[in-house]
Amino acid sequence: MNSEQQPKAVIVIFGATGDLAKRKLFPSIYRLFKSSRLSKEFAVVGVGRRPWTNEEFRSNVTASIEKGVEEHQGLEDFTSHFYYQPFDIEKPSSYGQLNEVLKGLEESYSIPGNRMFYLAMAPEFFATIAINLKNEGLTTTEGWSRLVIEKPFGHDFPSAKKLNEEIREAFSEDQIYRIDHYLGKEMVQNIEVIRFANAIFEPLWNNRYISNIQITSSEVLGVEDRGRYYETSGALRDMVQNHILQMVALLAMEPPVRLSDEEMRSEKVKVFKALRPIKADEVSKYFVRGQYGSGEINNENLPGYREENNVDPESNTETFVAGKLLIDNFRWAGVPIYIRTGKRMKAKTTKIVVQFKDIPMNLYYNNRENVEPNLLVIHIQPDEGITLQLNARKSGDGSYGEPIKLDYCNNCGDKNNTPEAYERLIDDCLNGDATNFTHWDEVSLTWTFVDEISKAWEMKPASFPNYKSGSMGPENSEKLLSDDGFNWWPVTDTFE
Ligand code: BG6
Repeated sequence: MNSEQQPKAVIVIFGATGDLAKRKLFPSIYRLFKSSRLSKEFAVVGVGRRPWTNEEFRSNVTASIEKGVEEHQGLEDFTSHFYYQPFDIEKPSSYGQLNEVLKGLEESYSIPGNRMFYLAMAPEFFATIAINLKNEGLTTTEGWSRLVIEKPFGHDFPSAKKLNEEIREAFSEDQIYRIDHYLGKEMVQNIEVIRFANAIFEPLWNNRYISNIQITSSEVLGVEDRGRYYETSGALRDMVQNHILQMVALLAMEPPVRLSDEEMRSEKVKVFKALRPIKADEVSKYFVRGQYGSGEINNENLPGYREENNVDPESNTETFVAGKLLIDNFRWAGVPIYIRTGKRMKAKTTKIVVQFKDIPMNLYYNNRENVEPNLLVIHIQPDEGITLQLNARKSGDGSYGEPIKLDYCNNCGDKNNTPEAYERLIDDCLNGDATNFTHWDEVSLTWTFVDEISKAWEMKPASFPNYKSGSMGPENSEKLLSDDGFNWWPVTDTFE
């Protein structure tokens, strides 16, 4: 698509002076602009509490792009589409003024009333803003109005439900775009293509041929300056309820009948419905929690979680989760899906390893104990690609086999050419494609699953810290697999 085929729209960013706008949104909008995936007739209105002028706003946008995008020419032309509106979200008059600004811009850029409202701010304001936008007439235009909201979408099922009901007073489900930025990642979007476009995978993609699946999403960074939020969240709510379970759904779902948002989401919902609920008294059998203590990463001594800013010195918040999930349906019965995620671990990496079952007899290994299984590794980040581990004859070594790796690297050539997650998601929303956003049905089922686990953990304080910064998490997370006769496959190696 070129810029002429792209919908003309105004993007309104609430929280335009904040971190997300600076780090992700402005650079992503710029990349869309540079690659002609944005209509030439576009405007961005930043709203925030600070009394900035358009000029101040534009120079902030410029600075964020200079920092976030390697090649940046023609910034003046680009930032001339940016406008700033000082705003008080509680005051109806602020909305009225904003509406006038939007009408003016729609006239000057010949935009037919298409408005994307992007809420890049704390979730406690989502409902107030959504309701005021409707009540003050900002959603009544000739074109479309869409609401984009960031996570966290609630704190548990009851709070998510309440928030959803409030937002739904103003926007219908098909106008709401709930961001899960993992769904914008190239290799997460590639899961369905790898699965459903290859004759060699789909017939094997079931409990007859797959022994287990392992999903790891580890980070080197600690909680940084987000202690206040993280204390109320922890790794289970921050990563598992959304990003990790979304990857589980994409790996486990049935092929959709077509690639529409409705069909894709309905297949994902079926996976969540089949996810075996974990009862409070069984949580320790299926889930392991951890919290980082001090340690050394890259020759730097780092403090433990309890020493971080805005963190309770006796905090019971988990910074690591490992779990064993079971999907009770015909395809997956009996195949464990192991997940783990944590902060301050050895490497920043997200990888999926699909381990196939051993063949009934392997004559090509001198020691049968060492027979290596076939593995399909999907590298989500930082390296993007796939590795297929097969067995082949070791040259000049009798008839013995050894594991060999077939690699495909998606981003080795030109890392800058891979669109950022936010870039894709903004593009999708402008084009009305909600496939890679989460539907309320998905959100409600994943919260219901996760709530049982957090309830059990809240009732029973853990003995934290239990893993060192720079490690791969607590020992118990190894046991989760070894009890079943498996082990975590290494995930820290990259293509280079
Ligand atoms: C966010 C979490 O959703 O995802 C963060 O709130 C986490 O705590 C981040 O660091 C990880 O995202 P990515 O894209 O760096 O893997």
